[in-house]
Amino acid sequence: MIEVKGLSKRFGDIHAVREISFSVEKGEIFGFLGPNGAGKTTSIHMMCGLLTPDSGSIIINGEELRPGSTELRRQIGFVPQETALYPELSATENLRFWGGLYGLKKDELDRKIEEVLQLVELSNRAKDKVGTYSGGMQKRVNLAAGVLHNPDVVFMDEPTAGVDPQGRFAILNIIRELAAKGKAIIYTTHYMDEAQKLCDRIAIMDFGEILGIGNFETLRDEVGKGFQIFARGDFDGAKLAHQLKNDFEGEVLHSGRGLLAVVVADATELGRFVAAMKGHGVNADDLKIKETDLETVFLKLTGRELRD
Ligand SMILES: Nc1ncnc2c1ncn2[C@@H]1O[C@H](COP(=O)(O)OP(=O)(O)OP(=O)(O)O)[C@@H](O)[C@H]1O
Ligand SMILES: [Mg+2]
Repeated sequence: MIEVKGLSKRFGDIHAVREISFSVEKGEIFGFLGPNGAGKTTSIHMMCGLLTPDSGSIIINGEELRPGSTELRRQIGFVPQETALYPELSATENLRFWGGLYGLKKDELDRKIEEVLQLVELSNRAKDKVGTYSGGMQKRVNLAAGVLHNPDVVFMDEPTAGVDPQGRFAILNIIRELAAKGKAIIYTTHYMDEAQKLCDRIAIMDFGEILGIGNFETLRDEVGKGFQIFARGDFDGAKLAHQLKNDFEGEVLHSGRGLLAVVVADATELGRFVAAMKGHGVNADDLKIKETDLETVFLKLTGRELRD
């Protein structure tokens, strides 16, 4: 449904997006996971036709997206990172405004508005001013505006950022519902647990590059199925790794200031690890052992933590 090949964009010296390629099918949820400045928004803007790429191509429903592709752009829905709503207007009025821009006629528009308000579960608040809504509700109106014209491909830029867990849950269900209707969803986030739960496939992005791409199981192979110990505290991770070399067996995943992460064969290794640390007079403020998840994969691929 959408195919992206070798897409790149520079802003002066900043290489914001470097040769990214991937494709997304009908009904699929594809996630871009990356920290601030990774190039997620720049990628999305190019794919929606809001920003001209320096090189590369975007093919939607078999047709290449170009600056003049007005018809093709009707098949694209875009939900921006910043909500673009008029606080003094109600949800219905806001949606009327957006629908007008898409060229929808009154009767059809009214029908569509009712439909999307139901989808985002705001029918009962439709007449209230958007300025009186919670942040999560505003995000839902924003989302409704992006899918009003029933596009085949929907781009969402951090639709859940800054929303509380309950609100995030509601938004994720809306995204699932849209995918179930056959839309291709391309969405960005920096919430790893969310990407792992929601997405059929994920692209891990950092410094404009896609470093890993696939479903969770494929990405997990970068680290391997198993357990990792994460120790945090007031210590030098690299020094600690060196000290532990002889009294503890486990491959070092990452060592840095205040963090040592090691891959272990079995969860029972935790006791030995702690004992070895104590043997060197080092205490951890925070210690956890977990099975390989997207956080570990991200650390392995980028050499840093997403929370930084
Ligand atoms: N219009 C612009 N002019 C100059 N530099 C830009 C512009 N837009 C983005 N950049 C730079 O390109 C890089 C990628 O930015 P982008 O907004 O795509 O990242 P992002 O992954 O969406 O980040 P965030 O999670 O903070 O939204 C950053 O270094 C940013 O400063
Ligand atoms: Mg962004």
